[in-house]
Amino acid sequence: MSSPSNTQRGQFITFEGIDGSGKSTQVRSLEARLSASGRTVLRTREPGGSPGAEDIRRLLVEGDPEKWSPETELLLFTAARRDHLEKTIEPALTKGEVVISDRFADSTRIYQGATRGDLRPMVDELHRLMIGREPDLTIIIDMDPQAALTRGLARGSGEDRFEDFGLPFQKALRDGFLKLAQEFPERCVIIDGNHPVETVEEAVWRAVSPRL
Ligand code: TMP
Repeated sequence: MSSPSNTQRGQFITFEGIDGSGKSTQVRSLEARLSASGRTVLRTREPGGSPGAEDIRRLLVEGDPEKWSPETELLLFTAARRDHLEKTIEPALTKGEVVISDRFADSTRIYQGATRGDLRPMVDELHRLMIGREPDLTIIIDMDPQAALTRGLARGSGEDRFEDFGLPFQKALRDGFLKLAQEFPERCVIIDGNHPVETVEEAVWRAVSPRL
């Protein structure tokens, strides 16, 4: 008998939001719930998600906030995403798995395209040339920027390069993600992250389950 993953089509779900929005917790909860329901799930993240892209991640998230220009960041994030797509995401979707990625191309649209830099046309062109794949569903965890920043920095992960741009940057990111949901209404769902984890988990499940 074939496993459920062989008889269902692959689904690509992404989570987006500002730093410290709680999306990584929600990614893990959704993974557990989908696995319990019998789906084969691949949980992954960006930047990263393949050995080569994890190498590039370290270049991007550690160190002095000013060490890369937005243009150089765009090239590095796109290189990492291309490797992630080739080595991790596409093979899993081909096998019929559910791929859940903590961030994907929407982060580039907002961070490099509209906040770090004003590079959206360049972001779109590189995406078309090198990536060319959109998620089936994007969950945007919306969160108060001050609370999220405090939470993000409290982690002390050493990956604070983007948090170090400060509160106005996080507020601009939040506005960017809310606008993005209007740009791609067919695949984006905004979920209020200013609630207990369990409440957010239920809201995520209500968004995901009808689409499977
Ligand atoms: P993370 O903290 O969610 O793992 O993401 C690392 C940082 O990289 C985060 O501050 C967002 C930023 N980022 C971009 O600026 N552009 C991108 O394309 C991605 C995927 C992440």
